[in-house]
Amino acid sequence: MTARLDGPLKVTGQAKYGADNNFPGMVYGYLVLSTIACGEVESMDVTAAKSAPGVLGVYTPFDKLELATPSSMLGETWVPLQNRDVAYYGQPIGLVIAETFERARDAAALVEVGYQAKPAKTSFEEGLADAEVAPDREDLEIVDADAGFESIADAFAGSPVVVDNTYSTATQNHAAMEPHSAVALWEGGELTLHTPNQGSHLIAADVATALGVEAAQVHVVNPHVGGAFGGKGKTSTPAFLAAAASRALGRPVKAVLTREQVFTVTAGRAATRQKVALGADREGRLIAVQHDSWCTTDSARSFVEPTSHGTSLEWYATPNLAVSQRIVPLNVPPTTFMRAPGEAPGSFALESAIDELAVELGIDPIELRKRNNSTAPPGKDLQWSSKHLDECFDIGAQRFGWANRSPQGRTEGDWQVGMGVAVAMFPALRFPATVGIELRADGTAVVSTSGADPGTGLLTVMSTIGAESLDLPEDRITPQLGDSALPPGGLSGGSTATASVGTAIQLAGTAAVDELTALASGPGAPFEGEEVTYAHGELFAGGRSMAFGDVLRELGRDSVSVSGSSAPGEELTKHSFSSFGAQFVEVKVHRWTRETRVSRMLGVFDCGRIINDKLATSQLQGGMVWGVSAALHEAMEVEGDGRLSNGDFASYLLPVNADIPEVDVEFVKYPDTLHNSVGAKGLGEIGTVGMAAAVANAVHNATGIRVRHIPITIEDLL
Ligand code: MOS
Repeated sequence: MTARLDGPLKVTGQAKYGADNNFPGMVYGYLVLSTIACGEVESMDVTAAKSAPGVLGVYTPFDKLELATPSSMLGETWVPLQNRDVAYYGQPIGLVIAETFERARDAAALVEVGYQAKPAKTSFEEGLADAEVAPDREDLEIVDADAGFESIADAFAGSPVVVDNTYSTATQNHAAMEPHSAVALWEGGELTLHTPNQGSHLIAADVATALGVEAAQVHVVNPHVGGAFGGKGKTSTPAFLAAAASRALGRPVKAVLTREQVFTVTAGRAATRQKVALGADREGRLIAVQHDSWCTTDSARSFVEPTSHGTSLEWYATPNLAVSQRIVPLNVPPTTFMRAPGEAPGSFALESAIDELAVELGIDPIELRKRNNSTAPPGKDLQWSSKHLDECFDIGAQRFGWANRSPQGRTEGDWQVGMGVAVAMFPALRFPATVGIELRADGTAVVSTSGADPGTGLLTVMSTIGAESLDLPEDRITPQLGDSALPPGGLSGGSTATASVGTAIQLAGTAAVDELTALASGPGAPFEGEEVTYAHGELFAGGRSMAFGDVLRELGRDSVSVSGSSAPGEELTKHSFSSFGAQFVEVKVHRWTRETRVSRMLGVFDCGRIINDKLATSQLQGGMVWGVSAALHEAMEVEGDGRLSNGDFASYLLPVNADIPEVDVEFVKYPDTLHNSVGAKGLGEIGTVGMAAAVANAVHNATGIRVRHIPITIEDLL
């Protein structure tokens, strides 16, 4: 198993992240943010700021950097400073450029802003009355007419047991270790932009559109990304503004968000409200499922957190199913893709509800889930390409000691101890990707794609699959990514990168071997006219062999380059695809203080072939920690005036080491070659999915108290 290739660079501080780039003559940008949540900027007096020491430029909606609105596979991307509208507290409304960061920051504080404020809508509770139908999320109702039902209500009326409850989840913030930043450098009409992202070619296209230049004039570079999780999928405000300001001033510009600015200038996860009703027979077989969801969104309605569609539409076999999704537009910072968007909060509701049904029926929660196992998503003909969820439960139950669980929990001194379980699912997806392979005369090979490694380990995975595809040892492979000049890789998002890039590497590998054998048998080549075969870096014919590097040298070539492209295709008409997992949590709730401590956790996952155990385990561990955080810690609090009351790391609660015991992760390793030729299903996001419900279910087992919202706090357990 290969250790993370960029690990030594990262832990020794040598990895160069976007904002680590410095250029002669570089100047610094600092954002001015709105201090109202709704209304218009009426005036901006920049006199004092402009005459402050070292200031080179102050840009506002009154004196702006022109930017067009780009649109990509992730939807339209908002561009800053183009009008005077204010939609949330902490929205970018200005940019100050100065000789140093400190001077830019100080001058930004001197900008006097006058507003025409309007009443801000910031309460989810109050906004529910004006909820709107979510765009692109159809209400769906499947009714089993053969059973004599005419409506979903009928199906519930015909269900011997019904549990029907409402759950809610908090707004969470993307606060990746590396804040969003950009360093822009123009040379001869071409822009190089060092900025963290999840797909450099997508960012290059966005920035080119925004600036009105050709895509080929924009070069985006991101060899290392310090966490992304969906929050760096879209082009960031610093990227747009640094690029435009650098062009306007003719100087390299660095713009880095402060930690506090990250909380409003970027985007986070929506708060949700979810009503889940389950109808079942006395043996626990589901007769009907209804999942109605509401989520917050910004006033531009830029993102929907699709909880009902992310879970109930896929997870359990049920003959009757209704799902709906509504949005509640508010004057809050934008929401976006954030680690398992839809599934993470959606599973809290669905998997809590399943636990409630198990309690109601007196059936073991694992047994109940097994009785409702689906071989295909409900209402669809397409069977899962592979599903080993029951085996995940069996392995997990054994390893976790589930048999020792009492339905009433147990006590250990002053602690009430409980165990909970939940399913985790995340769709297995892939996107189009192209990979280039360059075989070099020194016997090495470069495997390259523009995609990003946001800490997932994609670079290392590329090396492993590259070595395998070229039948070479890994030390002869040089993987390259994070550069829009490289062949367009997929997006490092949606847990797709290994499946997307891996299949393209395999195709490029085949092309490389074809090219080598053709060259080796071509005119003037060492095996001219012979039938040539390839294995472990050598070409064979007529009982002789020759290293490919030597063949290239004999032909007078330094290298040979090929590429491979892959995209999802016919398989989509044949199967449904998902990764699966069973997650187990033990909690201890203190009898007197009512604090909840997670004492053990285990996830057993079916994510197809695991390319690298160490990296995969690390992804799942991180996800599970995040899930504990969602269950017990994280909540973005918005004041009535739209200001975040905990928009920094001093007050936004996150778990620390003392909150997290060992995170036990196991895989069942069945390659899924119906999904893609590599056999890997996605695993970036699934780790977080079932955790919040598993924690809440464990809390119920320990205390008998059902908490239907996260985070669960001491007050909930008094
Ligand atoms: Mo994904 S939402 O890009 O972690």
